[in-house]
Amino acid sequence: MKNFDDKVAVITGAGAGIGRSLAVALANEGARLALSGRRESTVAETAELCERAGAKARAYRLDVTDRQAVYDHAEEVLADFGRVNLVVNNAGVSMTSGVDETTWDDLEWIMGINFWGVVHGTKAFLPHVIASGDGYIANVSSMFGLAACPTQSAYNASKFAVKGFTDALRQEMRMEGRPVGVSCVHPGMIKTGIARKARAGASRDVDELADNFERLARTSADRAAKHILRGIRKERSKILVGPDAYMIDLMPRVLGSGYQRVITASMRRQPA
Ligand SMILES: NC(=O)c1ccc[n+]([C@@H]2O[C@H](COP(=O)([O-])OP(=O)(O)OC[C@H]3O[C@@H](n4cnc5c(N)ncnc54)[C@H](OP(=O)(O)O)[C@@H]3O)[C@@H](O)[C@H]2O)c1
Repeated sequence: MKNFDDKVAVITGAGAGIGRSLAVALANEGARLALSGRRESTVAETAELCERAGAKARAYRLDVTDRQAVYDHAEEVLADFGRVNLVVNNAGVSMTSGVDETTWDDLEWIMGINFWGVVHGTKAFLPHVIASGDGYIANVSSMFGLAACPTQSAYNASKFAVKGFTDALRQEMRMEGRPVGVSCVHPGMIKTGIARKARAGASRDVDELADNFERLARTSADRAAKHILRGIRKERSKILVGPDAYMIDLMPRVLGSGYQRVITASMRRQPA
């Protein structure tokens, strides 16, 4: 996908953060936008920003954990826009918790959104993306889909799963000669509200963790969106976003499993 002019782009989790910035960036490049999120009010605000940039945009309420709703959404978008070129499965949540204090509900919550949400979006839209003749699927993982980290076991599991699923999809599309590019996106720490809405183990304080996250996050959501769109244009298999993502990507490749000792040592020096 060399440009986004007149392309129909679907973005989940478009009411905030990276999803909102991607929507506006795509609007500025001439795309038409089907934007969804679990709260229609915030997605409607994003759609308004896109319309101000001169794009056609429509807001939909969608919980990505609801499989049937995602399939219904795909049909609705097709009826409203006539085709689907690009799908960004972006909706996601985060959590900081030791394995011992992570509840079954926490695990089902995070896998439901971060992993199943991506699978639902991919499978429901794939036939339409193939039929467009110029299609693209970008699934949002994380730098924590490349390396594991203490307190991130559930998040790591969900984001490694996204990477495995997405990499296999790309290979299938290539093998079968389908007109569909596939990227897995691995952001580092991006300045969004994700940490304020996160879950934390019972022994941890969400606000304190969010303060720490906001202190460390260096890359803006707008900058992340620009980087992701550049990666899609270049059809990068792996789109790394931010210097921290590049560093985390390098660690297991250079140090092998020894990267875990480095991460553990650095975390001992600062609060999780
Ligand atoms: N920010 C980072 O540092 C970072 C790093 C690595 C990866 N990522 C990934 O990047 C993606 C976007 O994150 P972000 O930082 O932009 O977070 P964000 O600002 O919180 O935006 C995430 C969006 O997803 C929506 N969402 C959550 N659960 C949903 C559900 N069940 N159905 C539909 N929408 C849902 C949220 O809705 P509400 O606003 O209603 O909650 C929100 O609009 C996520 O997949 C995240 O894991 C982020």
